[in-house]
Amino acid sequence: MPAQTVRAILAANDRGGYTVPNNRVYPFQWNWDSAFVAMGFALLDEDRAFTELERLFEAQWPDGMVPHIVFHVDAEGYYPGPEHWGTPATAPRSSGITQPPVAASAAWRIVEAARDRVAAEARARALLPKLFASHAWWHEVRDPDGSGLVRVVNPWETGRDNSPEWDAPLAAVVPTVSVGHLRQDNKRVDPKERPTDDFYNRVMTLVTAARATGWDNRRIAVESAFRVCDIGIQSILIRADRDLAALARALAEPGMAARLEAWADRSAAALAGLVAPDGSWRSKDLVSGRLADASVSAGFLPLYARAASQAEADAAAARFRAWAGRVARMVPSTDPGDPRFDPHRYWRGPVWSVVNFMIADGFAHYGHDDIAARIRRDTGQLTTRHGFAEYFDPVTGAPLGGRDFSWTAAIALLWNLVGVDQPVGGESDPPAA
Ligand code: GLC
Repeated sequence: MPAQTVRAILAANDRGGYTVPNNRVYPFQWNWDSAFVAMGFALLDEDRAFTELERLFEAQWPDGMVPHIVFHVDAEGYYPGPEHWGTPATAPRSSGITQPPVAASAAWRIVEAARDRVAAEARARALLPKLFASHAWWHEVRDPDGSGLVRVVNPWETGRDNSPEWDAPLAAVVPTVSVGHLRQDNKRVDPKERPTDDFYNRVMTLVTAARATGWDNRRIAVESAFRVCDIGIQSILIRADRDLAALARALAEPGMAARLEAWADRSAAALAGLVAPDGSWRSKDLVSGRLADASVSAGFLPLYARAASQAEADAAAARFRAWAGRVARMVPSTDPGDPRFDPHRYWRGPVWSVVNFMIADGFAHYGHDDIAARIRRDTGQLTTRHGFAEYFDPVTGAPLGGRDFSWTAAIALLWNLVGVDQPVGGESDPPAA
């Protein structure tokens, strides 16, 4: 395949107002992928950027949840498809779980930087009640005790599907289904770079149990066998609350802004309960009450949330430097000193551009510009040498997973890593394994 450009990748993955992450592995609209893609599109076409978010919110559930996959049209080659989810959503069909709430931050970023502010505010005004309802859903339905810690009920919701943080909480889920033969992902990408069949069996057991409630989110939030506070989502939501509050103020909705700030304050205060003895922030298993035994890159995201003290941010910078002594390219998704660190397998080691983008933003906010610059440079070298892969090996830099990935291209655009029409190195999808 000839070298690709950012513009060509986004155009090839555009399905008419929404963008698929990658045609071969993920042929539908994904929630947080679209939020990053919208931020990237805004640099090329603000109208198209808003359309990306609007198409996502077409799938919002009546209770406020924004689903993690929107099946606008049928497509071959993905498991679990709409028939396996069996949700009540019909127009469009969707999965029954959510993903990290980046959309409000995308909307505010686009408005703040808009070349046509009047047009952008008009589009944002129409989205505002929907965005607000999605944040209310997180803080109410997904925090039934009002503790400030929001919960996920399935590892796929975290967007960091097979992180070692979920090993212990998933081990307590007794598999009732066996779905390995239905999988498509490991036939399209090298199985060594994908989760295991055992992981899929347990995750689909959770889907089956949720489906048996008739997709009643209030029940699922308290009954699911997997109930975890993910440090990634907890941080991303706080940041998104603040960003949405800023948008609400800009649109003269001070009441909404006050509610959002109050939620963000409560969730930021609750982060104190997620600090491990080594000072790192961790996810928490709300079933066992234990903090995760794995330190992961999402543990840097309280800085992105602006919810750390300066001393905490400085300690995070020291942890970052310790990690950097063990790998060539930052930021590996799992602590490279952890025995479960695997530089090839998905969220157990590889580098992901979107997470890098948020981590760098956090360090820059706390004055660690050298770290932010290092992360941007590493991301730039990975993409310019190896193309817009789904993720990268932090030791060798090798491209992994799917190729021509929308969100990897969007981050290259946001960080100005390559010109939009400038070709970069790149390889086409690996042959089916
Ligand atoms: C994988 C990733 C998830 C992403 C999706 C589409 O499932 O783990 O974060 O949203 O692919 O790119």
